Amino acid sequence: MKNRKITLKKRPVGMPLLSDFNIEEELMPVSGEGEVLLKSAYVSVDPYLRGKMNGTHPPIFELNEPVSSKIIAEVVESNNDNFKKGAYVSGYLNWKDYQVSDGKALQKIDSNTAPLSAYLGVLGITGLSAYIALMDIGKPGKGETLVVSGAAGAVGSIAGQIGKIIGCKVVGIVGTDEKIDLIKTKFGYDEAINYKTTPDLKAAIAQLCSEGVDIYFDNVGGSISDGVIANMNNYGRIPVCGTISNYNDIKAQTGPSLLPIVVYKFLTIQGFLIGDHAVRFPGVIAQLSAWLKEGKITYSETILEGFDKLPEAFIGLFEGRNEGKMIVKID
Ligand SMILES: NC(=O)c1ccc[n+]([C@@H]2O[C@H](COP(=O)([O-])OP(=O)(O)OC[C@H]3O[C@@H](n4cnc5c(N)ncnc54)[C@H](OP(=O)(O)O)[C@@H]3O)[C@@H](O)[C@H]2O)c1
Repeated sequence: MKNRKITLKKRPVGMPLLSDFNIEEELMPVSGEGEVLLKSAYVSVDPYLRGKMNGTHPPIFELNEPVSSKIIAEVVESNNDNFKKGAYVSGYLNWKDYQVSDGKALQKIDSNTAPLSAYLGVLGITGLSAYIALMDIGKPGKGETLVVSGAAGAVGSIAGQIGKIIGCKVVGIVGTDEKIDLIKTKFGYDEAINYKTTPDLKAAIAQLCSEGVDIYFDNVGGSISDGVIANMNNYGRIPVCGTISNYNDIKAQTGPSLLPIVVYKFLTIQGFLIGDHAVRFPGVIAQLSAWLKEGKITYSETILEGFDKLPEAFIGLFEGRNEGKMIVKID
């Protein structure tokens, strides 16, 4: 039996293409002493992988080597007392059907708490990012107005719901009318804007946020953020979780054009990287799990099936093909 792997064939220029990736075969790996043999079950595709393909998010992927991301895998053979055969684990692993690990960087998954795939989304990096960036940097208060860009995505859909739990008025920015319905009906957003069909985003935000914007949870950057930030209240807070709108830019953006507003409105803009907060993961996952159980939050997933769908799912993030967390289920 052969093992499949997906490698980076070319560094993408602009929008990533299927031809930037290669599907290859190799010999099946064999687990040695102290090792486990893992079979990939669910693979996370994430916008930050784009920066690992072209050098803006170190350490970068090597050409002709497997791409890697967060994966939920089944232990199919174990020579390691810490992991039982049949258990599920998560870790930053290679885009391969099977691989061996010494177990040191693997986390055990409790599949009784939530479905396995949830550990890549609401109970994984994106849920954690939504909670920590919103609570620590956004510091939401009851009655404040929170605007979330990328509001139907994995991070944004959770950030908006947490804002509602705190008692904020929550306004989401998305790229389709279907996503407007989704975030208002399923995720409890008060108002929503389709940025692709709204010619003047600054005016639209001003109209929907009549008392101004206190917190802007930014997932996208670029001109969408210009439109929101122009409406910030004094002492507003802006957790910058990501700027997906410029991940495929060939020419670096110049600026920053926003600094005058930051000054005269006393704004706090703070960057955020989830890797900086690992010590808090167990506590935040416990909180998110409790909210899930109580029905206070919910989540969506877009799951493509088949190992060969990995590049397509990744590219789909930049085309807005996902509602909630984009995941590939391995056959
Ligand atoms: N700092 C951290 O530690 C951390 C951790 C996780 C994620 N992030 C960042 O958080 C953001 C969201 O990540 P995610 O995993 O939750 O992805 P996601 O929102 O589930 O998926 C990406 C979404 O971005 C939107 N999008 C794509 N291209 C866009 C563009 N040019 N302009 C505006 N919107 C665009 C699309 O939705 P529409 O259809 O609505 O356009 C797409 O569905 C990303 O910027 C990511 O890099 C950061």
